[in-house]
Amino acid sequence: MSALPRPAIGFVPTPADACSAMLELAELKAADVVYDLGCGDGRLLIQAAVDYGASGVGIDVDARLLEVALAQAQAAGVSDRLTFRQENLFECEIAAATVVFIYLLPHLNLRLRSRLQAQLRSGSRVVSHMFDMGDWRPDLTLRLQPSEEDSVLYLWRIP
Ligand SMILES: C[S@@+](CC[C@H](N)C(=O)[O-])C[C@H]1O[C@@H](n2cnc3c(N)ncnc32)[C@H](O)[C@@H]1O
Repeated sequence: MSALPRPAIGFVPTPADACSAMLELAELKAADVVYDLGCGDGRLLIQAAVDYGASGVGIDVDARLLEVALAQAQAAGVSDRLTFRQENLFECEIAAATVVFIYLLPHLNLRLRSRLQAQLRSGSRVVSHMFDMGDWRPDLTLRLQPSEEDSVLYLWRIP
């Protein structure tokens, strides 16, 4: 794997109302393995582990954010189910995921799209905060209104 790149987007956390809605939209189960590609402070994964009993993997290039994520997972008592890795989300292995969360940018979603389609198994779900995937049409679009940041969520199911 090549050297870590600079972040393609800075840390902008998903607001609390959208976090809860993303977890619901994914229809999370305890058996799910949830990946957050660009996990920031790990809030989505920690909530997935606390509220649904899911396990997960957080990928980020920012070591400081990963330290925060691990500390918060420990404080919430779910660090045994979560792993945080300093990796490039465009190169990391994601085949083990049954659910993938992203909050990136439109052109980054498009860059990631072929990896999602190639690596994820049938029945896996992808949920994006705010941005779609061009002509890969979502199975469901949810506009949160009223919402902290006028969030729009997109869900794709891997056929
Ligand atoms: C908009 S934030 C989203 C944070 C979190 N997923 C959430 O929804 O609250 C995007 C995150 O992607 C990370 N990031 C940017 N480029 C990356 C890359 N190439 N590989 C891994 N992480 C990256 C940033 O450090 C940042 O934490």
